[in-house]
Amino acid sequence: MFVIVLGAPGVGKGTQANLLSQAFTIPHISTGDILRDAYKNQTQLGIEAHRLISKGNFVPDELVIGIIKETLLEDRCTNGVVLDGFPRTLPQAKTLDALFIELNTKDLFLVNLTVGDEEIIRRLTSRRTCHDCHSVFSLIEIEDDGKCPICGGENSLFHRSDDTEEVIKKRMGIFENQTLPVINYYDETRTLITVDGAQTIANVYQDIITKINATKL
Ligand code: AP5
Ligand code: MG
Repeated sequence: MFVIVLGAPGVGKGTQANLLSQAFTIPHISTGDILRDAYKNQTQLGIEAHRLISKGNFVPDELVIGIIKETLLEDRCTNGVVLDGFPRTLPQAKTLDALFIELNTKDLFLVNLTVGDEEIIRRLTSRRTCHDCHSVFSLIEIEDDGKCPICGGENSLFHRSDDTEEVIKKRMGIFENQTLPVINYYDETRTLITVDGAQTIANVYQDIITKINATKL
């Protein structure tokens, strides 16, 4: 089973992809997490990606397409994945279409989360991300002491360099120019499951599950 979680920065893609990955026992593949891990490990790719990400720019298509092709061919992905942050451009979406034909993918669900701009800025400026287990939190729900409530890592929570108001606004602009056409493309070519991401995390999750089950019928 393949699930693609689409939506603007901060709509809750990572939060919901993590829950869906546990529910369907398939890996959560986030291109953002993969690129941030590469930076943490100080690889050449990671350092170059970090330079672009910190300014709110996309990483070049050929680079992320290469990462996704390699990842989807891993044994752990045989039964499917939850994709978070890919595809984000039309060339990425068309490459993925070809890959799905190659992999003979049958069950594919496209989830599109929507949230208003003000709420996105509020969420991202107060987000903390774990270096170690990739969990995300809001400062509204946790202490700002750097300790991850999920994996227990000391000083593992950080404020992403692209989570400043200036860079968030730039990311939202790039989303509208580059990724909205992908969502429109899927709306025209496949069944798109659109869910109101401004509800509580539990209600967004329940809505996604209900709509996936309805699509299966
Ligand atoms: P990426 O890491 O994917 O960032 P993004 O798409 O901008 O999305 P975010 O991770 O910021 O938000 P999210 O939707 O995952 O929300 P979250 O669940 O954390 O990519 C980063 C960068 O990498 C890109 O800008 C680009 O440079 C590069 N990149 C990655 N993929 C690429 C690609 N395919 N092509 C080219 N470049 C690529 O939630 C946000 C916050 O809200 C959290 O604090 C969370 O706790 C909270 N929250 C979640 N849900 C709710 C809720 N329902 N109610 C209240 N709070 C909530
Ligand atoms: Mg994310």
